[in-house]
Amino acid sequence: MAGLKTEQAAAGGLTTTRAPFIDQAQAEGRLYIHQPYELYSAGNHDAWQRLFTRMEDRWRRYANPRFLQGIESLCLDPKRVPRLEDVNRFLSPLTGFKAKPVSGYVPSFLFFDCLRNREFPTTITIRDGATLDYLPEPDIFHDIAGHVPMHTDRAFAEALVRFGDCAHTAAEIAAGIKDEQEKIRRVTGIFKAMARFFWFTIEFGLMRGDDGLKVYGSGLLSSYGEIAHSIDSPLVQRYPMQLEWVVNQYFEIDHYQPLLFVVDSFDHIFELVGELERWMREGKLDNVAAGEPAVSEPDLRSFLEASRQMG
Ligand SMILES: [Fe+2]
Repeated sequence: MAGLKTEQAAAGGLTTTRAPFIDQAQAEGRLYIHQPYELYSAGNHDAWQRLFTRMEDRWRRYANPRFLQGIESLCLDPKRVPRLEDVNRFLSPLTGFKAKPVSGYVPSFLFFDCLRNREFPTTITIRDGATLDYLPEPDIFHDIAGHVPMHTDRAFAEALVRFGDCAHTAAEIAAGIKDEQEKIRRVTGIFKAMARFFWFTIEFGLMRGDDGLKVYGSGLLSSYGEIAHSIDSPLVQRYPMQLEWVVNQYFEIDHYQPLLFVVDSFDHIFELVGELERWMREGKLDNVAAGEPAVSEPDLRSFLEASRQMG
C-alpha cells in the first residue's frame, strides 16, 4: 500500500494545478518547505524542458547580458526541473543569495524581509504542460529561470537587499503611528508604492545598454510571448524610469503590459530604491494614486505585525 501511495503522489507530481504535497503543506500551515525532488513527474520535467528550450533563442536576443551570464553561472539543466540545492551551490558564492522553497503566496512583508536576508521565496511547482503560455501565479520556471539568474549580479542583488530594507523602514514608520486607522492608511499607500516599484523594475523592467534596449524584468524573461512584445511591439509605451510616475501607476497582471519603464543600469535601480526609502520617510508615499494592486488582508497584516514587533 505504501508503494501505491508513493505512486499516487508521484502521479500527481508537482504541477501548479495539482500537487498533493503542496495541498498538505498549506493545510498544515507550513509556508517554508523542502523541495521533494522525487515527486516531479516525467510530465513536470517535460514541461521544464519545453519552457526552457523555446526561451533560449529569445533570451539571446532580448535579455540583458547579465541575465545571460547568470543563466551560464547557474548551470541549469535544460532537460530537468532544477534542484534548489544545486542552484544555491552556484548562486550563494556569487552574491550570498539563496532560493528558498515555499508552499504558496508569501505575505508581502515576509517576502521583502526574505530579500533583506538574501533569500528568495521560490515556488517549487511547475505549470501544466498543456498551458505553457499563460499562468497568473508564479511557478518554478518563472522563479528559477526568470528571477534567480539576475540574483547572480552583485549590483542587482544589492538593490534587492535594499528593497527588503525599505519594508523594515515601512514597518518602523507604522510603529510610530498610534492611531490604528491612520496607520492602516499610510501602510496601504506605502505598500502600493513598493509593489508598483517592484512590478515596473524587478518584474517588468527594461534597460538601455550599448546594444540597445534589453529585458531584465523576470515577468518578461519567463514569458515566451511577452519578452519579444516588450521590445518589438508598437503597442508598448516605453518611458525613461520616473519614480513619481511608477509609484502612482496601477498595473494589471492578466494581459501584456502596455507601459514599461527603462532604467540605465543596476546601479540606477539601487539609487532609486534609496530614493523610494527617502520618500517613504518624508511621507511622500502615503497618498499614492488609487488602483491596483489591491492590498490583501495577509499583506496588510504582515506589515502591521512587523510594526507591532518594533513598537
Ligand atoms: Fe516574479
